[in-house]
Parts: sequence; C-alpha cells; structure tokens
Amino acid sequence: MSDSTGTRGHSYYVTTPIYYVNDRPHLGHAYTTVAGDVLSRWHRRRGEQVCFLTGTDEHGQKIMRTAEAHGVSPQEWCDRLVEEEWKPLWRHLQIANDDFIRTTEERHTARVQEFVQDLYDRGEIYRGGYEGPYCVGCEEYKSPGELLDGSGEFEGRKLCPIHRTPVEMLKEENYFFRLSAYGPRLLELYAAEPGFVQPESARNEVVRFVEQGLQDLSISRSTFDWGIPVPWDPGHVIYVWVDALLNYATAVGYGADPERFARTFPADVHLVGKDILRFHAVIWPAMLMANGLPLPERIAANGWLMVGGEKMSKSNLTGISPRQLTDHFGVDAYRYYFLRAVPFGTDGSFSWEDFAARYTSELADDFGNLASRTAAMVGRYFGGVLPAATAAGPAEQALADGLARAAAEADERIGEQLDFAGGLAAVLDFVRQVNGYLSAQEPWKTAKDGSEQGRARLATVLYSAAEALRGIAVLLSPVMPGACGLLWDSLGAEPQLGALADQRIPEAGGWGLLPAGVTVTKGAVLFPRLEEKS
Ligand code: MSP
Repeated sequence: MSDSTGTRGHSYYVTTPIYYVNDRPHLGHAYTTVAGDVLSRWHRRRGEQVCFLTGTDEHGQKIMRTAEAHGVSPQEWCDRLVEEEWKPLWRHLQIANDDFIRTTEERHTARVQEFVQDLYDRGEIYRGGYEGPYCVGCEEYKSPGELLDGSGEFEGRKLCPIHRTPVEMLKEENYFFRLSAYGPRLLELYAAEPGFVQPESARNEVVRFVEQGLQDLSISRSTFDWGIPVPWDPGHVIYVWVDALLNYATAVGYGADPERFARTFPADVHLVGKDILRFHAVIWPAMLMANGLPLPERIAANGWLMVGGEKMSKSNLTGISPRQLTDHFGVDAYRYYFLRAVPFGTDGSFSWEDFAARYTSELADDFGNLASRTAAMVGRYFGGVLPAATAAGPAEQALADGLARAAAEADERIGEQLDFAGGLAAVLDFVRQVNGYLSAQEPWKTAKDGSEQGRARLATVLYSAAEALRGIAVLLSPVMPGACGLLWDSLGAEPQLGALADQRIPEAGGWGLLPAGVTVTKGAVLFPRLEEKS
C-alpha cells in the first residue's frame, strides 16, 4: 500500500516524547524509544522515506530545581545530561534517529515564539488569573477531584495520582489559550478518526475527559524564568508543555524550511506513554487547529513498565538500568525482550527470570540454534558452499508458505497496528516451524545416504533452511540489527543480495532469493548461553 515516499507522498514521520533531562534515562524511557526505533526501521525496510525524531525537554520548573540542587545553571545541567547520559544510551541501544531536538536550541525557541505570537494575534490567547493545585513532576495543574489523600510523611496533604507526591497551590496571573472552545471539534475528530488515539482503552479515556468539558489552558508562567520568553510580555515564560509539544513541528522545519515541513509534517505516529496522552490527544491537536496546521494521523500510547505495582520512575527503579540488562543479555535481546513480552499499550512488569527464560528459549534455543546448526551442516556436508534445492517437495512448499505468512502478518502487525508482540510471535512461530522441519527431515541421517538421490535431498533441506533464515534475518533486523547483521554475514548474502539494510519487507516473504553457491560460514554465536557470560 505504500509507495517509495510513504503513504501520503511524504516521509513516514515517527516521534518519541522528548524526555525531561532532570535525570538519566531509565528502562521506561528506553521502552518508548526502542519502540519508535523499531517502527521507523520497519518502515525504512518497506522502502519508505522515514523521519524518526527524539530529543529532550529542557525547560520548566522541574529541570530548574534539579539544576539548582546540583549547584549548576540549568543550561549546564542539560548540556551535561544530554551529552553524557541521553545521547550515549541511544547510541548504545542502536537507536537510529534522524534528528535529536533539544528545546533550548535556537531553531526551536525562535519558532515557538512565532507560533505563540501567531495564536495571540488570532485572539486565541488572553490574559487571566488562575489558582489551583500544581504537580511539578507532571508540570501540570491538577483538578482537585483527581488528587489522592496523603498518608505517613504526607499526612494531611493532597498528592498527585501519578507521582504520589504533594501538589503545590499555585496562584498566577498569566496567559490562557482558549482550549475550552475546541471540545466539540476534538470530539468530532475522535468520532471521525477512530484510530486517532490508540489503543481503544486510551481513546475512550480521552473521549470521556473531553466530554466532561475542557478548561482554558494556562500557557505562561511568571514565577520563574527557565523557559522561552513570551514574545509580547517577556516577564513571562511559555508553559513548558506548549514549548515541548511544538518540538514535533520545529524539528522538521516549521517556520524555517517550508519544503521540508510540507514533506514531513504532520506525524504519522506520535508514540507516548499513557501518562502524557492527554497532552498529545487533546492539547496538541487543539493547538494545531488554532493555528491552522494539519493534525497527526495517530497518537499511540504505550503502557507503563511497572515495578512493585507502580509506574517505573527514577525513584522506584530497584537499581536496574538499561546498561545492566544489556551487559547481561546484549543489546539485541534487550530491544527484543520488552516488545515481545509486553503487548504494546498495556502495562508490563519487568522480571529478570522472564527475560532469562525468553532469552534462552526463543533467542538462544530457537533462533540462534537454527542459525548455527544450519551453517554448521552446510559447512560439514558441502564445504560451506550453499547447494541448490533440486529435489523440493511439499515440505519445502510448506516452509515457503510459512515464510510468506510470517512476513505478511509481521508487516501488518508491526508496521500498521504497532502490535510488536504479535508481529514478533509470528516470526518466532516460523523459526519454530523451520526447526521442526529440520527435526522431521533429519538431514544428519540423509547425509549418511551416499546415493545421488540422498545427496539431492540433503542439498534441498539445507538450502531451504538457509533460505528461511534469509527471510528471518530481514524480518527480525528492525528489532535485532546486530544479530541479524551477523546472520546475514554468515549466510554470505551480502555479495549477492546487497546489504541487510537494503532488503525490503515486501520481498522478504518470497522464496528462492538466496542464490545457491553463496559461501556460508559458521559465524559468531548469535545468543551465547547466559551462564557463559560473566
Ligand atoms: N517531557 C515530557 C514529554 C514531552 S513530549 C512533547 C515527559 N518526559 S518524561 O521524561 O517524563 O518521559 C515521559 C515518557 O517516557 C513517557 O510518556 C513514556 O513514553 C516514557 N516512560 C517513562 N516512564 C515509563 C514507564 N515506567 N513505562 C513506560 N514508559 C515510560 O513526560
């Protein structure tokens, strides 16, 4: 359904939230970022032009207070965290983002001022007063009804339901965006585009929220100065969420590069955690409507990675960092595990035992072992030169059909539905089918049959296993680029078929593409046994 430039004649544009740099990245941040990376790699493999954006949210009270607590300026703090923590982790996790936006960059701040000025000029912004409970963790006014009663050290105080820390009463004279006027148009949007917010549970929550009636949104702050000045009243800074949401426009040329902007904006998918769904599904489209800009195709909310029944956050991480997991399991398995184990959109708990179990059964035993025994047998029986399949029959046809099915299903589930777990399950089912095929064909027994017929069957079985691995390498490469690259090398595929990155999903499910005669080598073990690791 896609052409070479994407379904709407321009780039397939995927974003992650831009993360607060008050601390280093944790498993929860990495979860959304890896999902975005896999989705964008998948679309690149379809031959589409893709823009994958991530970045950092650097203004607001939360960052300012953290910097103060560390005795450095907010800018120094952000620079340090971005360069020493955030960017290095994304490189380590093989995140192939096309751009990285920081909200303190001039390309962003100048354009945010223009956007807000434009809203002001259109009469969408007015001056007013507001008093209410504010959560600095969320950087958001809360409605009194959603607060929790504190206990223990917070006895007698009201708590934010997400952070479970006390809210602060804020009273401010500032500028307001007429958000309340957009309720009816937003409800029309959700009704007309049922896929605009996903999953459905998230959509229903947003609809209920908007149906209750929207309040105007306070979009400036005057009690601190770490933010972008309001252009017509520099005593105020722009509310950090208005500043942050605009990254999706400023990064792709809003107000600066009209050609690039038209080619990229709006986003096909904004990936967000469900904690920040309302900002993306309510405030962001209303801001765009007010400014006459096109709306994104889809806001996809991922669930939370949980620890002890609560959202994983910097305060309850139980000491597990992404790097500890990659040290033990490797980067490929790390990227695979969370997407495979947690159905996208639902909450999931991390468990060391579950990770180890899936690593061993799905990656080491099923996938890794298939790759190593196939290469070993081509080496042993054919001197490492892939033979031709001259005696193919129904068993081989079943494999070819299985690969075609797995490719189509993975493409629909991962590329369209963002059902990473389901798409990976389809490919892993095929891996098991190939293992079952080898067990049933018993090529190690056929190898003892020196007849011409026996030799032809042996060649056919090993060719078929290698050809199946060719398809598997392409289909799993967006998730596990390192291991699949090693497999591609081991199959000797590159000289004949080109680089793995240039393989296309629509062709991956075909059969007979790996030419006989390629040199198959038993390369590095893709997923070493865990006990062999330190
Ligand atoms: N800066 C805002 C986002 C602005 S986007 C215009 C923000 N930043 S954040 O650092 O708090 O990161 C929030 C995002 O990180 C979540 O929306 C989610 O995508 C991801 N996650 C953080 N903790 C998470 C879990 N425990 N589980 C899953 N994802 C989590 O909010």
